[in-house]
Amino acid sequence: MNLVVGIGLRANTSYRELRDLVDSALLEAGAGNVQLVVTVTNREAEPALQRLADDLNAELRALPPSELAEQAAPNPSSQVEDLTGTPSVAEAAVLAAGAELVVQKRRSASATAAVGRLPAPGYEPADREVVHRVIAERRDVRRGFLDVPIDDMLLTRVLEAAHRAPSVGLSQPWDFLVIRDLATRRKVHDLATAQRDAFAASLPDDRRSKFDGLKIEAILDTPVNLAVTCDPGRGGRHVLGRHADPRTTWFSAAIAIQNLWLAARAEGLGVGWVSFFEPAEVADVLDLPAHIELVGYLCIGYVDEFAAAPELVRSGWAKRRPLAWAIHHEEWGRRDASIVDDALQAGQNAVPAAGQQVRVIVGGDANDLKQANALVVDLRDDRPRADFGVLWRPARTPVEAVEFGVEIARDLALQGVGQLVVQVADSSEHAESLARGLNVGASACGLTHSTA
Ligand SMILES: Cc1cc2nc3c(=O)[nH]c(=O)nc-3n(C[C@H](O)[C@H](O)[C@H](O)COP(=O)(O)O)c2cc1C
Repeated sequence: MNLVVGIGLRANTSYRELRDLVDSALLEAGAGNVQLVVTVTNREAEPALQRLADDLNAELRALPPSELAEQAAPNPSSQVEDLTGTPSVAEAAVLAAGAELVVQKRRSASATAAVGRLPAPGYEPADREVVHRVIAERRDVRRGFLDVPIDDMLLTRVLEAAHRAPSVGLSQPWDFLVIRDLATRRKVHDLATAQRDAFAASLPDDRRSKFDGLKIEAILDTPVNLAVTCDPGRGGRHVLGRHADPRTTWFSAAIAIQNLWLAARAEGLGVGWVSFFEPAEVADVLDLPAHIELVGYLCIGYVDEFAAAPELVRSGWAKRRPLAWAIHHEEWGRRDASIVDDALQAGQNAVPAAGQQVRVIVGGDANDLKQANALVVDLRDDRPRADFGVLWRPARTPVEAVEFGVEIARDLALQGVGQLVVQVADSSEHAESLARGLNVGASACGLTHSTA
């Protein structure tokens, strides 16, 4: 544990007195290394303090009274304030160093001492920068693969990164099936092509033509394909943390893929995740045992470049969601700025958007989905059968219904929608509120919108 000692002292305090005081405070704090001794400006030259820092092998730091005075020290003193300009020195010095106060101020005849626990240090700025850089520059790559083999040692290093991932109960439910064989890859490719065609057929015309220009896999263009699997039962009955939420097994395997993705990026290897599959069909082609499930199918190889932005953004298929939309404080829907106010403001100078038309049927049900451009919003309390054509939004209040409406419109805009036709199929207050929210959200994103 790293400790900080805060000291207030009069001029010419003896070393013996100071050391005894600090030793008793450190005894109470428990085991740890003193990294830092902090005092108020102008006291750092006191010989006893300098010797203390030397003997403890700690850095000596002095902070101005104004900075100390800002700290919420538990034992302030008006006498100290009159003398030094801050109501607390020792405790405030600990707090100002960014530590948690663990031993409150204790005093001797002419000194005070307090002790704090410092947080374990993060990385140096340059190292931190690299971590954030690899996160930002990781890309899903489907084009531009080079016909250059991947060294086995390098692949192992990348798999090591995957294998270091956190997992529920340390169950490490993943396995990595490395596939180089062309015949196998061709079979997998055929499956992806069939799913691609099925998805294309489900799209409205304008969206389909955009999709036709997108590449969604690189199964035959990469030297290595990797099937990342999950064994949901691995470790038996008492895997810690899994019993209440079995999904954690699949989360663990997905996190392993992210580790792999980041390590691959750092090594200059492109990775593309293909999910245009019925997982059981891939399992069949790969002859997986029945208890092993496919989590991700990855295409890996050297590439001519890593694009600065996701391919779906560059092609105009989808946009990134602002972080502020995703952060709620203390309760759902409480964002830094109200989603409705934010949308009303954005609506005043929204740039008109182009894109597919969606007919949102508020209060409808799955029977309304016959047209490819229909999207149903189901407000009932009971969860409908899973269908991506039905958005389940059981709003608890009319205000929440408005917010849900704004959110739906904004998220549709991110997925390339340019026009909304809002149809209210239920006369409840919640349905009308949600429809109002849809119109506000549509205006905010520059969508053309009308009511059917
Ligand atoms: C679980 C998952 C499945 C994905 N499936 C596919 C896919 O089948 N085809 C594809 O082209 N991209 C696929 N992607 C890549 C996403 O489109 C991509 O991550 C997203 O557009 C953001 O781009 P970026 O990864 O370059 O930041 C998948 C990504 C994830 C996480």
